[in-house]
Amino acid sequence: MCGIIGYAGKTEAVPVLLDGLERLEYRGYDSAGVAVVSSDGKLQVRKSRGRLAVLRSLLSGEKPLSGEIGIGHTRWATHGEPNDVNAHPHVGQENKIAVVHNGIIENYLEIKNSLMRKGISFSSDTDTEVIVQLLEYYYKKDSNLMDAVYRVLSRIKGAYAMGILCSDYPGQMVAVRKDAPLLIGFGDDGNYIASDVTALLSHTRTVTYLEDDEVAVITADTVQIYDSDRCCTEKEKHVIEWDAAAAEKGGYAHFMLKEIMEQPEAVRKTVSPRLADGKILLQELEDAGNIIQNISRIYIVACGSAYHVGMIGKYTLEKLLHIPVEACLASEFRYSEPILGETALVIVISQSGETLDSMAALREAKKRGSKVLSIVNVMGSSIARESDFVLYTWAGPEIAVATTKAYTTQMVLLIMLGVFFARKLKQMEEYDRIIEALIALPEKIKEVLKDLNHYQKIASRYFNHNRVFYMGRNVDYALGLEGSLKLKEISYIHSESYAAGELKHGTISLIEPGTLVVALATYAPLVEKSLSNIVEVKSRGAEVIGMTTEKTADIISSQASEMFVIPRTHPVLQPILGVIPLQLFAYYVALNRGCDIDKPRNLAKSVTVE
Ligand code: M6R
Repeated sequence: MCGIIGYAGKTEAVPVLLDGLERLEYRGYDSAGVAVVSSDGKLQVRKSRGRLAVLRSLLSGEKPLSGEIGIGHTRWATHGEPNDVNAHPHVGQENKIAVVHNGIIENYLEIKNSLMRKGISFSSDTDTEVIVQLLEYYYKKDSNLMDAVYRVLSRIKGAYAMGILCSDYPGQMVAVRKDAPLLIGFGDDGNYIASDVTALLSHTRTVTYLEDDEVAVITADTVQIYDSDRCCTEKEKHVIEWDAAAAEKGGYAHFMLKEIMEQPEAVRKTVSPRLADGKILLQELEDAGNIIQNISRIYIVACGSAYHVGMIGKYTLEKLLHIPVEACLASEFRYSEPILGETALVIVISQSGETLDSMAALREAKKRGSKVLSIVNVMGSSIARESDFVLYTWAGPEIAVATTKAYTTQMVLLIMLGVFFARKLKQMEEYDRIIEALIALPEKIKEVLKDLNHYQKIASRYFNHNRVFYMGRNVDYALGLEGSLKLKEISYIHSESYAAGELKHGTISLIEPGTLVVALATYAPLVEKSLSNIVEVKSRGAEVIGMTTEKTADIISSQASEMFVIPRTHPVLQPILGVIPLQLFAYYVALNRGCDIDKPRNLAKSVTVE
């Protein structure tokens, strides 16, 4: 949530900052801004409400801001509405210090009131402004920027990643973090900070991750990192495997469509390195593969679409392992007294690896004695670093706010983990069939993606419906949750997903002539029961889009106006194929409605506030 970029180098900072902000815009896009310090110590700030394009035109309509050091920010508003004043960077009243900030300062009101009593006036409604006003207040007293930074850090509570500039230190940028991601990039033409690695890929792939309470002092030639006791620390550098092109649209109209089309490859990259000699090999678990022997329950904890993967996991892993598996919303997990301890395994799923609620759940689980295994897409992210074991989905950078390829790779990896554990428990039937199906999966996904016109045609028939129900049983219910979320988040159509058998316990009263129902019936053992549910809604006037496999297409199509027919695969992998028509339907509906598909309103890619 919100994006930070900073540059200290040997070329003009503004183009570098704008390039970085463009790549970060998916993290928040209600306002954007930059601050630059010129070599003679002049602090210049430009910021504006709206998309980055507004800031770009503001900057192009005037004399270029000159300076080889700068910070930039793209915002997802928490405190204060999206407007010019609340946009970052924020500047102190002495106009000496500028700050960009991600996260939330929880005690900002108390600090604000105490500074106001000292005669300091505030111009914005943000929590961030207290940081910069407090910094300037201490700086005025001590005349030492680092002293002031450490004093501020001891005073503020909450989560933050920050970039700081001071006009008295024209070649220097300061970066700090606590519970919000921030990394440092080492380039040939200077050094960088960024909240997200995608902002740096066109400049460098060599990075180091700032840890909580560390403070970095960055110039064009040097990076020094200090711990909370102000001792200098040596940090390991990492080379990011993603390349810059992976974060470009590559000729597609939207990142979402590109990422949908990348799914065969993303799944192949996630699956194939983990298959050897006809077996699933999870090297990441090394000797710990046997932990499953002592586990009596599993919690799968995640948010949004990753939680929907957890729902699929609940059905699938319970069946494979014969132990209780619960899918939990991360935002509820730590407040719901889960039964943790050594015999509970907690699986955290997160694309970004930075979702604050998932991170908090992870910490709670560890604190209470459970091992945490995470399924994460972003290497080196906070969740990956704090987990006992990490399985990476090799989906590459995912830019569209609506997740697609991260979702399918999370699902395939979770299922592989289930099969791997089941074999350890010596209760795995059909192992060889599943391995064969895993190998064939990328080709099957390609088949689902073959006829985009079909999805386009169905979407153009239904895009003006204002209410859509998804229904299904077992894993189809979990798939419906994801289909419905995809539609809601990018097309703004109100939609709900129901376990098909539950509809008649209340919700069926909402079905009236013309209501659109997407009926999912890919789970073979329950196709006939699903058919009865379709008949129930049809007889109340619903229009039905049915989805099933080739084998049962005739049964379902007898009742549906339109059909998504997917190839068959092994039943445990079937939902991976099932989600793709739902992604494409949502995409084309949103396209027909003229929505901003990659940057839906009010959303951001990675949610780093509670
Ligand atoms: O980065 P994460 O996987 O932890 O993100 C979790 C959710 O915020 C995310 O899946 C969200 O629901 C997506 N926008 C859905 O498309």
